[in-house]
Amino acid sequence: MDFLGIADNSPERIRRLVDLAADVKSDPGRFAGRLSGKSVGLFFMKPSTRTRVSSEVGAFELGAHPVVLRNEEVGIGGRETVEDVGRVLDRYLDVIAMRVFEHGHLESIAAVAEAPVVNLLSDTEHPCQAIADLLTIAEHRPGASLAYVGDGNNVCHSLVVGAAMMGSPVRIATPAGYEPDERFIAMARTFGEVVTTNDPAEAVDGVDCVYTDVWTSMGSEAEAAQRVAAFELFTVDERLFGQAADDAIFMHCLPAHRGEEVSGPVMEHTRSRVFDQAENRLHAFKAVLLDILS
Ligand code: CP
Ligand code: NVA
Repeated sequence: MDFLGIADNSPERIRRLVDLAADVKSDPGRFAGRLSGKSVGLFFMKPSTRTRVSSEVGAFELGAHPVVLRNEEVGIGGRETVEDVGRVLDRYLDVIAMRVFEHGHLESIAAVAEAPVVNLLSDTEHPCQAIADLLTIAEHRPGASLAYVGDGNNVCHSLVVGAAMMGSPVRIATPAGYEPDERFIAMARTFGEVVTTNDPAEAVDGVDCVYTDVWTSMGSEAEAAQRVAAFELFTVDERLFGQAADDAIFMHCLPAHRGEEVSGPVMEHTRSRVFDQAENRLHAFKAVLLDILS
């Protein structure tokens, strides 16, 4: 079964993945070697630190063999078509996990491959990140309210749909013109309360979790200067974070740009959970592989 996006899944599967990630985290030895004899492709068309390492280590710890590929060596779109690459990888691998620019590339591979395809980030969704984030939120307080402040991007799409599925009230604050795709807002609203605003203070007021991500995602670098101007009032700094609940946590998928979407003191705050989120990427990816391959 593919894992291309949070929005493609039932709330039951998302909750099952979060519960399994929690089980893996609490007792990793119980799952060691479960995927012995399996081979997992990890294909990257963009840079990565967390996803690259957590997926390779996660596969290894489950007993699977990770095969890491960069597009510089494969050449999708130049050396070979995306469909031909998919057909070939399908002959060798039990799972094809990919980080791509265009979400459609994942769908093209999924259409020709029998092996399940996993999204390691596309322009539309970042679902493995969302499972780690939902675990982090559940560790703080199940059903905790969430404010996402910043760009209505891939991370935002997966997070808000997943959080709504998990029973969290969600508020999203973006500058005008940088709202998330309406499709994800509409889907999240089928599961719970979702408020959108252009005012970060309105979103953050009294919430349990404050989340932000970079203003310029990989692939949009040409827009960076224009985005810095548009997002000027959207930095999660001590003043804004101080308007959340007294025990609120700060979240960021990383990499972070201190002085842009988050201030240095908020990154280093005692209630910043950003490195727990990064750790939870490992447990989350193991849960995804176990769910797909066991
Ligand atoms: N959060 C995340 O996906 O980080 P990387 O881009 O380093 O993998
Ligand atoms: N929105 C960011 C997330 C990086 C993990 C990007 O796509 O670059």
